[in-house]
Amino acid sequence: MKTLIKIALVLALGLSASSVLAFHDGGVAYCAGCHTMHNSQNGALVDAAHPSGNEFLLNTGTASDTCLRCHAAYGQFASGTGFGAGGDFYWVSRTFSWVSRGSTVMSKGDSHGHNIVAPTKGLAADATLASAPGGTFVSGQMGCTSCHDPHGNDNFRLLYGTEMGPYYAGGRYSFANPAPLAKGNSRTTTSGTGIESNVAHTVYKSGMSKWCANCHANFHDDNTTNFVHPTRAMGSSIAGAYNAYVSTDDLVSGNAATSYWGLVPFEAVTVDVATVNSTNYTQGPTGTDEVMCLTCHRAHASPFQDSARWDMTARIMSESHPLATDTGFIQTDVDRKYYGYTFVAEQKSLCNKCHAKDAFDKL
Ligand code: HEC
Ligand code: HEC
Ligand code: HEC
Ligand code: HEC
Ligand code: HEC
Ligand code: HEC
Repeated sequence: MKTLIKIALVLALGLSASSVLAFHDGGVAYCAGCHTMHNSQNGALVDAAHPSGNEFLLNTGTASDTCLRCHAAYGQFASGTGFGAGGDFYWVSRTFSWVSRGSTVMSKGDSHGHNIVAPTKGLAADATLASAPGGTFVSGQMGCTSCHDPHGNDNFRLLYGTEMGPYYAGGRYSFANPAPLAKGNSRTTTSGTGIESNVAHTVYKSGMSKWCANCHANFHDDNTTNFVHPTRAMGSSIAGAYNAYVSTDDLVSGNAATSYWGLVPFEAVTVDVATVNSTNYTQGPTGTDEVMCLTCHRAHASPFQDSARWDMTARIMSESHPLATDTGFIQTDVDRKYYGYTFVAEQKSLCNKCHAKDAFDKL
């Protein structure tokens, strides 16, 4: 139905079909984009690497291999050139190590994000974590379709919600919390507006922390037993600090209208996702806006441990690993770790955007 309306629009307005009819189309895409019925076309194998075919009649190995057939080049597995909000899964294949005070320290690939199982890209289940910390979801089941519905839905980024959870060990994993509300930019994250910046970035509204808690229940501060960083309304003094903060060198002259940092996002709870312009959004928080999981983490992967948005183990940002002195580095990794973002020379941890604990570090 939706497609018919769009076709009518294309005809009536003379728009180019490609700009209006997208692959997933908010609903189910053409089946052959992902499935092959016999693994045969014109007498040749559709997936030559798997002559006897694949589970679910997929046309490329596993679910994640199938997605990456198109999405690798869009920036979801692109040698670290995917500068998207979600992040580039390339980073889970990169391990860096260095010597600190006489002992070797590792920033392991499998700690850099969600380890999706995609053998055609050399990606395997997390070797360190058997299941989701704070939850039960088993690491070996992790793939693109643990979070995104391959058959489409109306949610932000086709994420699963309470309607139906992801395919899991022959059944479905039940999600207790709905998909988050947000507005994102292009799925192509190697160029254009899909590249996250202080101006163009996902505008998050609500529900992200609870959504992550579908698999990491005990890390959400709704649980009453554990001490964890809050994921809730910031309060006026923290929102004020965020807005005033420019850098370690200047904690005071910021302005709420332009204070948004793509690297330290929050949920703007009053925003209208239908009308907001996510390619030009610079408004800082008010006290009711919320700190959330993606304030500190990326949903896919990052160059840093714990899929962090910045190196949480570095004293100053310029000491973030990978560095050119690390074992295992390549120069492009060093160049790409912070997308296009830049910092003042002595910039301390970005936790300070809200907490200003670098008040006495001013040079
Ligand atoms: C974007 C890729 C994609 C497209 C397009 C797609 N599928 Fe699937 N399909 C999958 C994946 C991946 C699985 C494996 C289960 C999972 O990971 O969710 C699957 C599983 C299935 C299953 C078995 C499990 C279930 O959910 O019932 C059926 C049946 C199915 N697909 C039918 C279809 C039909 C019919 C179409 C076209 C109308 C279609 N699919 C289009 C990716 C896709
Ligand atoms: C045949 C190529 C192709 C395959 C295979 C494919 N995609 Fe896509 N995907 C696209 C295109 C084109 C777009 C952008 C247009 C759109 O939203 O339909 C897109 C967009 C998306 C988006 C962003 C949607 C939004 O609302 O902004 C997500 C999420 C996504 N794909 C997930 C997946 C997952 C998960 C799989 C594997 C199950 C998959 N894709 C397989 C071509 C593909
Ligand atoms: C479908 C279940 C699922 C959802 C939803 C989910 N995670 Fe995870 N997460 C896992 C599993 C399983 C692991 C452990 C295996 C791995 O790293 O792939 C994990 C690991 C992690 C790690 C540790 C990475 C490492 O190796 O040290 C972080 C950080 C994380 N998740 C954050 C998040 C955030 C933030 C969200 C919400 C945007 C989220 N997760 C949503 C299942 C999930
Ligand atoms: C742990 C859950 C999870 C897994 C696994 C996951 N995604 Fe995502 N994905 C998300 C979330 C959440 C967002 C929104 C991120 C944001 O805007 O901050 C997203 C965003 C996206 C986007 C929009 C562009 C971007 O980078 O933000 C695309 C396209 C996409 N995912 C495709 C994929 C593909 C392909 C895979 C597998 C290779 C995958 N995702 C695996 C949760 C996941
Ligand atoms: C204020 C920043 C911040 C927020 C907000 C935050 N995290 Fe974390 N997270 C971290 C840091 C830093 C670590 C590294 C380990 C630690 O400090 O406990 C981490 C580690 C993790 C890990 C890996 C644990 C392990 O054993 O390897 C997971 C999973 C995780 N966070 C999930 C979440 C989820 C889910 C949320 C939202 C409910 C969330 N985080 C909110 C900063 C944050
Ligand atoms: C987007 C804003 C924001 C960012 C970024 C942020 N925090 Fe917080 N943090 C908060 C809020 C809000 C509170 C709750 C403060 C309150 O209730 O007074 C808090 C509380 C805390 C507390 C006190 C917890 C308690 O129970 O008393 C610590 C410690 C803390 N944060 C550390 C960190 C660290 C370390 C980082 C970086 C990894 C970080 N925060 C990043 C907003 C933020």
